[in-house]
Amino acid sequence: MSGDLFRALILRAGEGVTRISFESLADADLPPGDVLVAVEYSSLNYKDGLAVTGKGKIVRQYPMVPGVDFAGRVLGSSSPDYHPGDLVIGTGWGLGEAHWGATPNGRAYRRNGSCRSPGARHASGHGPGNRRPHGHARRDGPGGGRRGTGDRQPCAGDRRQRGLGSVAVAVLGRLGHRVFAVTGRPENAEYLRALGAAEILDRAKMDPPARPLEAQRWAGAVDAVGGTTLARVLSETRYGGAVAACGLAGGAELHTTVMPFILRGVSLIGINSVSCPAGRRRWAWERLAQDLSVEALESITRDARLEDVPALAEEIVAGRVRGRVVVAVGPVTG
Ligand SMILES: NC(=O)c1ccc[n+]([C@@H]2O[C@H](COP(=O)([O-])OP(=O)(O)OC[C@H]3O[C@@H](n4cnc5c(N)ncnc54)[C@H](OP(=O)(O)O)[C@@H]3O)[C@@H](O)[C@H]2O)c1
Repeated sequence: MSGDLFRALILRAGEGVTRISFESLADADLPPGDVLVAVEYSSLNYKDGLAVTGKGKIVRQYPMVPGVDFAGRVLGSSSPDYHPGDLVIGTGWGLGEAHWGATPNGRAYRRNGSCRSPGARHASGHGPGNRRPHGHARRDGPGGGRRGTGDRQPCAGDRRQRGLGSVAVAVLGRLGHRVFAVTGRPENAEYLRALGAAEILDRAKMDPPARPLEAQRWAGAVDAVGGTTLARVLSETRYGGAVAACGLAGGAELHTTVMPFILRGVSLIGINSVSCPAGRRRWAWERLAQDLSVEALESITRDARLEDVPALAEEIVAGRVRGRVVVAVGPVTG
């Protein structure tokens, strides 16, 4: 434990509002934990936006340091798994919700869950990566196992073109799928095509409520929106197809019927990266390292400073951020 002070973004509960402040802290101010990490990067997720603006019930106790993921270097550890100098990442496990998260300028303690060691800035750019076990197996649609044979099954790359969505479009495109990217912002079309989208669909076409079964269009889908959009995707998914439900940017409600499931054998797969077991995380990170090119990641991510977080949080909740924002939190050590 050193006496150095570091700056942290701290949220406090106010009269019906979330009060944001930048404060200088010392290691002694950090909650207890067995690994002390010098945080170098974090990223701004939709959930962070909800936490910092107070527009979502994300923070379970105040004061809270937000930031659901980080990359950095171990400074001290009483855990047999981590040693000073290790490059580590942390995502989920209640970071920035129940446990102090990743936007103290330079320090974080690990309480539980796993950390691993990729390149810090790129790691923060990735975001959660546990989607793939299911998609991997099912993305081939009817007749399976024909990946990469030019059998470009149409799959609705992500519904929306931000962090999670951009990664899904880039990975699905790289794996040879014919990706239809859906967005409410046509100005993003070139960005999406460069990432790997074959077709761009206007989000307005996907939002109207659907009949229990619509014409079969998709071998699979990655959805970050929920609501009527997810219900329509399910009704349009082909026999044996799979839909990964990851988000609720368009609403938490899901009004659907059993028809896609019992008449077309469609699978609806829930994705949660927060409490995903360590083994599966490791597998997902290895797949991300394999299936998401550094070039795509560079085009998806943009850099910001800790001071920019409050304003960017308003932007991401308002749907005005594209791709993923990587926040340079602390001094970069390598
Ligand atoms: N399951 C998990 O483990 C996990 C992990 C990370 C994120 N998530 C969730 O996934 C979702 C996306 O996260 P993100 O970080 O990628 O957020 P993001 O970058 O802000 O992306 C949100 C997307 O939602 C679309 N959108 C915004 N408001 C909408 C509305 N009212 N109706 C329909 N679409 C709307 C936007 O589409 P346009 O392109 O059309 O503007 C945008 O692309 C969030 O709900 C987040 O909580 C879940």
